[in-house]
Amino acid sequence: MKPLIVVTRTIHPDAIAQLNRVGTVQLWDGEDAIPPNLLRDWIQTADACLTMLTDRIDDSVVRHASHLKVVSNMAVGYDNIDVGALNRHHIVVTNTPDVLTEATAELTWALLLSLLRNVSASRDDLLSGFWRTWKPDRFLGTEVAGKTLGIVGLGRIGRAVARRAAPFLVDVVALSRDGREMQDGEILRLPTPKFLQKADVVSLHVPLTNETRHLVNDQWLLAMKPGSYLINTSRGPVVDEDALMRALESGRLAGAALDVFAQDPIDRGHPLATHPRVLATPHIGSATHETRRAMALRAAENISQVLAGFPPRDLVHPLSD
Ligand code: DGY
Repeated sequence: MKPLIVVTRTIHPDAIAQLNRVGTVQLWDGEDAIPPNLLRDWIQTADACLTMLTDRIDDSVVRHASHLKVVSNMAVGYDNIDVGALNRHHIVVTNTPDVLTEATAELTWALLLSLLRNVSASRDDLLSGFWRTWKPDRFLGTEVAGKTLGIVGLGRIGRAVARRAAPFLVDVVALSRDGREMQDGEILRLPTPKFLQKADVVSLHVPLTNETRHLVNDQWLLAMKPGSYLINTSRGPVVDEDALMRALESGRLAGAALDVFAQDPIDRGHPLATHPRVLATPHIGSATHETRRAMALRAAENISQVLAGFPPRDLVHPLSD
């Protein structure tokens, strides 16, 4: 009998075709995420499962999934999966690194430019009829050239963001992981207080772990340069959203661009989503045709490898605290 492969969302047809070559695909093609109870039912008889970051996979989901060999997450982040619990059941977990690096870096720059130059807010004004005439003091933003971008998390995506800075005449610094000031190639790594005093824009590129949860809190925001900006394309809970609201309200922070939220999806009436100095987008970091196809193929490839008895290309280990 062919292995059963559960796929929790409609993905690129090329990836489905690849999976059909190695097993029988059971696909959830609903508009919303697969209901957790249904996923739990389907996974009981599955040999492999291709999941999304919207699916929570833990011990309670896989406990009775006696055939399950691999959970392949179609995302680079895998904080939605309790890897330790799955490994205890001899289920391997994989992700899709590399293929979304450039797309996420591009979105970071799109948000940065749009936020500092009021692109989205001024479009809203145009559409709602407030734009009556050109005025010297209307829609004034902040010049990007000459600013310093501070990167938190100098991994693949953080470095891809940094690579794009020079043409915009932007300097880059990065947060030092161990608190030591050091040169890392072209980039100066700084300890937290110096980093926050130097950066005009802070951009987050860290995975969600116990260590990074609420990394951006009241203390952090107070230490940021007055009038600076925050961009988050990583995971919502890295930012304490109440603290962020306080920093925006007090005027300490000039603005924030958020692609991710504590609650994904954020309610469209949420005070952060509607805040005039917040640019909120619906988790579109990897949303390009090229990248989503590549992510789906990479997730399918990981499944094919495990089902064929090989180690997968993108095996992940439990996220460290
Ligand atoms: C990821 O892969 O973790 C991204 O958040 C998806 O866009």
